[in-house]
Amino acid sequence: MAVMMKKKKTTKTMMKWQDYFPRCFGVENPNPEPKKASHVSKQSSFQRISLSDLSSSTLSEDLSISLAGSNLHVFTLQELKVITQNFSSSNFLGEGGFGPVHKGFIDDKLRPGLKAQPVAVKLLDLDGTQGHREWLTEVIFLGQLRHPHLVKLIGYCCEEEHRLLVYEYMPRGSLENQLFRRYSVSLPWSTRIDIALGAAKGLAFLHEAEKPVIYRDFKASNILLDSDYTAKLSDFGLAKDGPEGDDTHVSTRVMGTQGYAAPEYIMTGHLTAASDVYSFGVLLLELLTGRKSLDKTRSQREQNLADWARPMLKNHRKLSRIMDPRLEGQYSESGAQNVAALAYQCLSHRPKFRPTMSDVIQVLEPMKDLDHDIPIRSFVFAVSTNSDLQKESEQHKKTKKGHAHHYHQRQTP
Ligand SMILES: Nc1ncnc2c1ncn2[C@@H]1O[C@H](COP(=O)(O)OP(=O)(O)OP(=O)(O)O)[C@@H](O)[C@H]1O
Ligand SMILES: [Mg+2]
Repeated sequence: MAVMMKKKKTTKTMMKWQDYFPRCFGVENPNPEPKKASHVSKQSSFQRISLSDLSSSTLSEDLSISLAGSNLHVFTLQELKVITQNFSSSNFLGEGGFGPVHKGFIDDKLRPGLKAQPVAVKLLDLDGTQGHREWLTEVIFLGQLRHPHLVKLIGYCCEEEHRLLVYEYMPRGSLENQLFRRYSVSLPWSTRIDIALGAAKGLAFLHEAEKPVIYRDFKASNILLDSDYTAKLSDFGLAKDGPEGDDTHVSTRVMGTQGYAAPEYIMTGHLTAASDVYSFGVLLLELLTGRKSLDKTRSQREQNLADWARPMLKNHRKLSRIMDPRLEGQYSESGAQNVAALAYQCLSHRPKFRPTMSDVIQVLEPMKDLDHDIPIRSFVFAVSTNSDLQKESEQHKKTKKGHAHHYHQRQTP
């Protein structure tokens, strides 16, 4: 069941964007319009502000917006240096297109109202491909959206050219690491179902919000896992407001991650919620097969997971042959067949034939209890030595540094 975004009534003082982002816009309006009382009164009930609102001419002068309730904290660079021990390598968590991510710890003396907790601090790489716009998109979306299956943005820093984001710390890192790292323990079938369901709930929340959001970068590395494996979506840098009025789609530059992006979106740049559903189908395949959406080390025919696996999903015998060998047969056969049939639909080349995320949740929910046909087997322990773990960690750092599988595809339609 999808959770609808609550409309918050507020009579609190209206905040201006510049209150939240002092000196961060870099775009000054040469002809500021006088303040209109009506503009403010329109905001009397909570309305999510979108990026397009910010690129309007009233950007930095006249935009009165209530972000009351978002509770974002503004940090100084110096504070974040202290929190992360000067971004020390021992606190390094990983690196994607935006820049490096470090673990940090906030103590209860830093801010009144901010509890002591571990955090993840993402630092914009000033020489990288992403920049202020992605940072701002993240702050605007995640600052206003709250849901148990979205990672919580605690605050940000915007000082001179520096742009940082501070999130709740997710102890089990990304699903990508959990699913594909060679020496990590294989995720059990039931955990895979829970993760798929949690991520589906996060997407459904976005798609069915009063002002719908298209996530646009749904993939295993953007699903973070809490200590109990609760899945949360992170990285809203590419998110878009959904189509409005009679529009059926949003036209955009084609951006996303190869192997996950829907074929019609790559061809036309027309973005719909169904594009996210396609990416969700790719994730289901990754959970079923333990293979990456795009794997250049495989033969040409097997590199793109969706192209290779989709024709086999409806054939039970073929499906059992492509299931993740690391599951060692410990999965529900009927559950796997249902998940495969769902993936098949999500990966339809006709967007209209794909299910909505609410449909997906309805199919996945009963899978949680489908365990009667999981073979019973005695446990086998796999012990990794310290040197194995060391090797793995070095290999992982190298892969991330080269962004081997995280090239964002940019092309103009
Ligand atoms: N809130 C967090 N808690 C714990 N670890 C995190 C958190 N956010 C990010 N990480 C770690 O940092 C890594 C890099 O994350 P990031 O989102 O910057 O890049 P990515 O998802 O790998 O690539 P992309 O740029 O394509 O999104 C993640 O894989 C994860 O291991
Ligand atoms: Mg990410």
